[in-house]
Amino acid sequence: MSWLVTGGAGYIGAHVVRALADGGERVVVYDDLSTGSADRVPDGVPLVVGSVLDEALLEGVIRDHAVTGVVHIAGKKQVAESVERPLHYYRENVTGLATLLEAMVSAGVDRLVFSSSAAVYGMPDVDLVTEDTPCLPLSPYGETKLAGEWLIDAAARAHGIRAASLRYFNVAGAAAPELSDSGVFNLIPMVFERLEAGDAPRVFGDDYATPDGTCVRDYIHVEDIASAHLAAARRLADAPEGTALTLNVGRGEGSSVREMVDRILKVTGRQDAAPRVSPRRPGDAARVVASADRARAELGWTARHDLDAMIDSAWQGWRHRHG
Ligand code: WQD
Repeated sequence: MSWLVTGGAGYIGAHVVRALADGGERVVVYDDLSTGSADRVPDGVPLVVGSVLDEALLEGVIRDHAVTGVVHIAGKKQVAESVERPLHYYRENVTGLATLLEAMVSAGVDRLVFSSSAAVYGMPDVDLVTEDTPCLPLSPYGETKLAGEWLIDAAARAHGIRAASLRYFNVAGAAAPELSDSGVFNLIPMVFERLEAGDAPRVFGDDYATPDGTCVRDYIHVEDIASAHLAAARRLADAPEGTALTLNVGRGEGSSVREMVDRILKVTGRQDAAPRVSPRRPGDAARVVASADRARAELGWTARHDLDAMIDSAWQGWRHRHG
C-alpha cells in the first residue's frame, strides 16, 4: 500500500515513517513543519509541506501519490498549552481530522491509523486501563483526541472507513539520536534539562496512594509505538469495511517517578544529584498503566524495548542536540 503520514517530520511520525518504509510500504510525508523538521524525513521519501486544514492540498497529494491509506499523527500535544489555547487545539486536532476525512472520502481512500492518547482516560481508577475503561479526559488536549476517535467511528459507519485509533501511553526514547524528541515537556527530558542546568530533578508529589508515593506510568519506547503502527496498517489492509479498532499502545508495566529518576541518574552517571520533592502537579493521576491485551490479540503486537533502552537512547539524543 501507499501511506500518507501526516506529522511524519515530527518525533513520533519520523519513527513511524521508518517502520513503514522498512516494512516495505510506500510512504509520503505531509507536515506543516511547525514542530517537525525536514531533516527527520529519510532520503527517497517525498515531503509535502502543508496544513491539515488545507483540504484541497490534502486531496491533491492523495491523488498525485496514489495514496491508499493515511496515518494521521499531525496534531498539537501539549496538555498545559491546550488549557491556554483550547480553540487552537480543537481547530488543529478536531477540525484538522475532519478536513483530512473529507479529503479521504472525496479521493476514495478508506484506511486510517490515528494517533490517540492515554489522555482520553483522565484519572482512571483501575490497576490496568482497558479500552473499555470509561473516558473522562481532563484537558482540552485529551478531549480533542476523544472527539477524534468519535469522529472516526462515525465516519467508519457512514463511509465504510477502516480505522485504528492507537492510544499511546508515555512515549520515550529514540531509534537514533537525530530522531529524538526536541521538546522538553515530559519526565525524561525534563530531568535531563535540570541536570544540565545543575539543578536537582523534581518529583511532583510523593504522597500519592502508590507503593513509593510517586505517580506510576506506562513508559513505552517510540520504536515500539512505530511497530504498532506498521502492525495496524497491515491489519487494516485486509480488514472488512467499517472496521474501527481502538487499541492501547503500552507495555502493561508501571514505573514510578522515583524509579524513573533513579534510572535516569544511573544512565547519566549523576547519582550525586538527589531529586527534590515538589508539590503535586494539578491534573496528574496516581496511576495510568495499560492493559496491552487487545493490541496483542488484534495486531499480534507487543512492546520489545525496556526502560533502560528508552532512557539510554533518549540521553544519546539529548547529547546530540545539546552538545
Ligand atoms: C510523567 C510523570 C509527572 C516531570 C503526558 C500527557 C499524555 C501524553 C504523555 C501526549 C507525572 C512526573 C514530570 C518532572 C515529575 N502526551 N514528573 N517531574 O503527564 O503522564 O502524560 O505526556 O499524548 O497525554 O498527559 O507525562 O512525562 O509529563 O509526566 O515528577 O520534572 O512524571 O508529575 O507523574 P504524563 P509526563
